[in-house]
Amino acid sequence: MSTETLAIKITKTKESRINEVDFNNIPFGKVFSDHMFTMDYKDGEWSNPEILPFGKMLFSPAMSSIHYGQSIFEGMKAFRKDGEVYTFRAKDNFARLNRSADRMCMPNIPNELVMNGLKELLRTDKEWIPENETNSLYIRPFMFATDEYVGIRPSETYKFMIFCCPVGNYYSEPLKVKIETHFTRAANGGVGEAKAAGNYASSLYPAKLANEQGYHQLLWTDSKEHKYIEESGTMNVLFVINNTLITPSLSGTILPGITRNSVLTIAKDWGYNVEERQITVTEVIEAIKNGTLTEAFGAGTAATIAQIQTIGLDGMDYELPEIKGREFSNRVLKFLNNIKRGQETDKWGWIDTV
Ligand code: COI
Repeated sequence: MSTETLAIKITKTKESRINEVDFNNIPFGKVFSDHMFTMDYKDGEWSNPEILPFGKMLFSPAMSSIHYGQSIFEGMKAFRKDGEVYTFRAKDNFARLNRSADRMCMPNIPNELVMNGLKELLRTDKEWIPENETNSLYIRPFMFATDEYVGIRPSETYKFMIFCCPVGNYYSEPLKVKIETHFTRAANGGVGEAKAAGNYASSLYPAKLANEQGYHQLLWTDSKEHKYIEESGTMNVLFVINNTLITPSLSGTILPGITRNSVLTIAKDWGYNVEERQITVTEVIEAIKNGTLTEAFGAGTAATIAQIQTIGLDGMDYELPEIKGREFSNRVLKFLNNIKRGQETDKWGWIDTV
């Protein structure tokens, strides 16, 4: 049997937890659906694809990912509308997982194998996919090194897993973000464009300092001069200045966001001026001051389109135009919500029906 068509062993839970969940009030990332998917990599191939009840697992204290950080992940979402289940750009997320894997010296996963696993998991936990317009099922695929070895070299064994969380909004209010001009998220030649666990670990301390100053998140700048905007802690960032949608170009230090790409694709299709280029901190602040910046927002799977209300720099807070007048970001959010639920023509082939 080829790797692509490996049979998935399914063991269902004897006691579903679904009745304990208040689907009208779901905290992000704290409620887990009944099942998870797992698969092992050994001797150069993937084996043992399995769906089993979500639960704790046993690992060696010498497991190398804990020590040396060979750990990557993805974030994607499933939606349910009129009995149909849809995933949004799942193949693109898995392609990015493989690119992260290359950078971190980890094995690729054949697309068909991982899509089969995901679809089977979603069929098993279909009832966990929220049906209303604001909620969805967040899907967390991830891979980590499992060798028991205290020495620096790529692991020879890995585990790949997927679990799911019914979720509402990641951010419950417009954001106040601080432009970070001291700490760095990623440097040229580093792992900034990989979705590697360590990128998030290193962002925690600067983000904590910003939280203590009343900011929700950071806007990272380049490591060399802290002059150019890069991305936010949980999402890419986009601005509308002089009626042009502008976002930092993918320089190797920025996560190539799937939502970012979707927004740019839609904007071009709608005839908006779109620029992917370096954007300086000075340009953003000047555009706020002279009124040419009309919108600023984050884009990410978890965050979706997250409006930015305030930008802080060097102890000064700059207020942005009010949210309800933001023509582009409000329109793209609505369009994306519809496309994800099969209510817009999927002209880019982004939707898979489960
Ligand atoms: C996602 O948007 O899927 C992420 O991985 C970001 C994380 C903050 C939840």
